[in-house]
Formats: sequence, structure tokens, C-alpha cells
Amino acid sequence: MASSQLFNSFLSYSSLVNSHSTSTVHHYMPKLVIKCNNTPIAVNNISPPPPSPSNINFSAKYVPFNSISTNTSTTESYSLDEIVYRSQAGGLLDIQHDMEALKQFDREYWKTVFDSRTGTTKWPYGSGEWSKKEWVLPEIDNDDIVSAFEGNSNLFWAERFGKKILEMNDLWVKHCGISHTGSFKDLGMTVLVSQVNRLRKMNVPLVGVGCASTGDTSAALSAYCAAADIPSIVFLPANKISMAQLVQPIANGSFVLSIDTDFDGCMKLIREITSELPIYLANSLNSLRLEGQKTAAIEILQQFDWEVPDWVIVPGGNLGNIYAFYKGFKMCQELGLVDRIPRLVCAQATNANPLFLYYKSGWKEFRPLKASTTFASAIQIGDPVSIDRAVYALKNSNGIVEEATEEELMDAMALADSTGMFICPHTGVALTALIKLRNSGIIGSTDKTVVVSTAHGLKFTQSKIDYQSREIKDMACKYANPPVKVKAEFGSVMDVLKKYLSNTRLH
Ligand SMILES: Cc1ncc(COP(=O)(O)O)c(C=O)c1O
Repeated sequence: MASSQLFNSFLSYSSLVNSHSTSTVHHYMPKLVIKCNNTPIAVNNISPPPPSPSNINFSAKYVPFNSISTNTSTTESYSLDEIVYRSQAGGLLDIQHDMEALKQFDREYWKTVFDSRTGTTKWPYGSGEWSKKEWVLPEIDNDDIVSAFEGNSNLFWAERFGKKILEMNDLWVKHCGISHTGSFKDLGMTVLVSQVNRLRKMNVPLVGVGCASTGDTSAALSAYCAAADIPSIVFLPANKISMAQLVQPIANGSFVLSIDTDFDGCMKLIREITSELPIYLANSLNSLRLEGQKTAAIEILQQFDWEVPDWVIVPGGNLGNIYAFYKGFKMCQELGLVDRIPRLVCAQATNANPLFLYYKSGWKEFRPLKASTTFASAIQIGDPVSIDRAVYALKNSNGIVEEATEEELMDAMALADSTGMFICPHTGVALTALIKLRNSGIIGSTDKTVVVSTAHGLKFTQSKIDYQSREIKDMACKYANPPVKVKAEFGSVMDVLKKYLSNTRLH
């Protein structure tokens, strides 16, 4: 057991769990109880956690992303209660926290606060994400939060995959897709829908929330909006998402438009529509989403007891998530919880690889492209909205971009599944990047490496069925494991089993 977990199981700072009912931290006297065999044996006279100045107001605001990426000061900023998606110059926005306020608490304070809240039933702090509320959306009232207790996702030690395929002993898969709607999008959507909920309570005239989606964003948006009784409208590219993804917004009561175009076409339309109608834009152009998604990075560090992995590999499409990971890691470094950040790898499907081509050109020229069909359908994007954010994240983390062909990503997915996982094709893209970087020696055998799994494999069963039944044109499907047809009689079953068992090891 990691030392801080051990520590926490003996010491319960009950006041810490309960002290933050608003964004203001009040001076508290910690009720420190030492437990032995669950019996309290000593109370008080033990130094409290680091001092907490009273009445600290944590806050955050929108600023032009450009001012962050060029490290220049700006007078342009917007309250999070304003409806604004772009800077005056038409560029991306970012959310800037009052770091000086957060820095008034030292790293041990934040670690203890996060550890003491995570996984509890205390609203809303038991959510892996809202356990870090002051770092995410500090000013929102707890009553306005719309949460399904997202986060706290499994950081899976991929022991067999690592050892068998890559000679790695320190390989981990962060299962962000084992979540309320089956993808990491829940992390961003809880923040965005909570903020919309707050705005509507403030009588800001918003009739609903809308998004263009390759499937997972619409699933998350519809669920969180339905929970808060907020109308949601989703634009989906016709015939380009899985049935499981399509049924999610339908079941959750969204107004679903199936549009005869691709994701980039839907994105263009929703931007035009949201500038005309009082519909709040929920795509990751909206930086609120990334504030939630960044908590996956913080959670990885927390799960490793604040030991920094060497590599984190993220599949990328619209490219918000790769930046969100960078932001989460960087915030931990700036607030002193870690002393470095991991190297980031963004993995793209070869059929939708504008970032990869840009990287290969030495960051000389970015060219949006028409993405081709890919089994990794959620990243079939040729004109990513967050391209500038992704480039910034990669340049500042000594990052790398890799790509995966259809055959490579499907083989990687099947290999991973054969070791007990059940991953989505996008995670297959990330695993392909890992395999390539490991084979070229860039990722070493002892490097602590995290592959981010972005969606649940059960959303993509059709592609798995096609692969396992070797029904994909021009693909060998070399790791397929199709069922054996056998007559319903004892002799036939015995023959088949004997043949199978003769090739099977006892141990
Ligand atoms: C399953 C899955 N993986 C990866 C991504 C890519 O994330 P981003 O668009 O932020 O790059 C998405 C987003 O659509 C997704 O749904």
C-alpha cells in the first residue's frame, strides 16, 4: 500500500472532508483522530495540516489562450458566467485560475484534501473530479453541480500486455471509459452542464445546450442535461457513429439531428447555429470542458502517490483532451505537488492524422484534411478545433505524435483484449503508438507508462465482431479468435476439445 494511503487509513481529517461547502476556505480546527483497530486512541495536540488562511476566494476566468501560450499579460478576460467561446481576435480561450490563491496552501494540504474526499459519498466531493473542485470550477455553488460521481476511474496495471508483448513491467491503462456514459467525456460534461445549470438559475436566457459529436460527447451531454432537466440538442454525422453511441442520446431524450456530413461539417453547423440561437455550445472549443478533463491527469498522479510517470499516451481527434492532460499535469507542477511532468504522446489514426502530418513537417505547416473512415470513429476528424492547444501541450512536454493504420489499431485492440482488457479502437490507436515507440527504443522497458483508454469497449462491439469473425476486407485479423462450430454430439465435442487441449499449456 502506498504510504499516503496507509497514512490516510489511520488518520481521518473529518473536518477537511466537510469544511469546503463553498469555494471559500474558512479557518478550521482539524479534528484529528488517530484510529487503531478502528478505535480512536488520541485526539488533538497533533499539529494540524498546513495553515489555511481564512476567507480565501478561489476564482477562475476566461483569458485568450494566446496569452497563455505566448506567456504575455492581457487585459482581456471574461467571467465564467459570460457566454463567450472565442477571444476578441477570434482565437481560442482558456481558463486561468487565481494561482496565487491556490498557492496559499502547500502541496501536503492539497494532497490531503484530495485524498480525504475521493470516493466518499459527500456531495459533490466524492466524485474524483469534484474532489478537486477548487482547481476546476471554484465559484460554483454545490447545489448547482450536476454530477454522476465521475472520475475515480481504474488505473489498471497492464501486467500481462506489458510483459508479454513489450517486455515492460510498469505499463498502466487509465480506464477513463469505465464511467457513467462510457467515455472520458463525462469529466468535461459535468463541469459544462453544471455551469449551464448555474446560468439558468441566474435567469440567463439559455434554451438548451448543443454539440456536434462523433458519439461520445453527445452521450455525455444528453445524460447530464437529462439529469438536470435541461434540453439538449445533438448534431451527429449520419452513419458514422456506432449504434451504441447513437442510442445513448436518443434514450436520454436529446433532440437528435442525424446530418448527412462528417464531424467537421456538424461542427461548422453547430457553431453557426449557436451564434444565432440561445443554445449553449458544449464542444471542447468551450474551455469549460477541458477543466473537467484535466482532472484525469491529476488523478493519475494521485493514484501513483504523486510519482510522475515517464510517458502518457492519449488518442487524439479534436485535440482538446491532449491539452487537458497537459494542463492537469502542469497545474500539479506549478502548485508543487510534483516536480516534473510526463512526456505526452498524441496518437492519431492514419485515416485522420492532420496533427501527425504537422508534427512530421517539423511543425512547419498545418493543413486540415478530409478524414477517411476509421474504426476509431470518435477521432475521425480532419480539422481539429484545438490544434493550437495540442501543439502547445506537445512542445512543452517534449511530446511526440504517432499514428496507427486500421490494421495496426485493430490488431492492438485484439491483443489487449486477449490479455483481459476490452478496449475501444481509440485505445487501440494509443496502444499502437506505444508498440511503435517501444520497438524503436524511444520508450524504454522500465519506463513508467500510462495509456489513456478513452471509451468503453462495449460501445464498439460491431468492430470487434467484424474482426473476430475475420470479416474485414483486406485485413488479416491475425489475432482473431472465432468460435468453433461443432455438432451437438459428445464425440464431435470431444474431438474438438482434445485438439484444442493438445495445444494448451498446463501452467
Ligand atoms: C473515445 C474517444 N477517444 C478519443 C477522443 C479524442 O479526444 P479529443 O477530441 O479531445 O482529441 C474522443 C473524442 O471525440 C473520443 O470520443
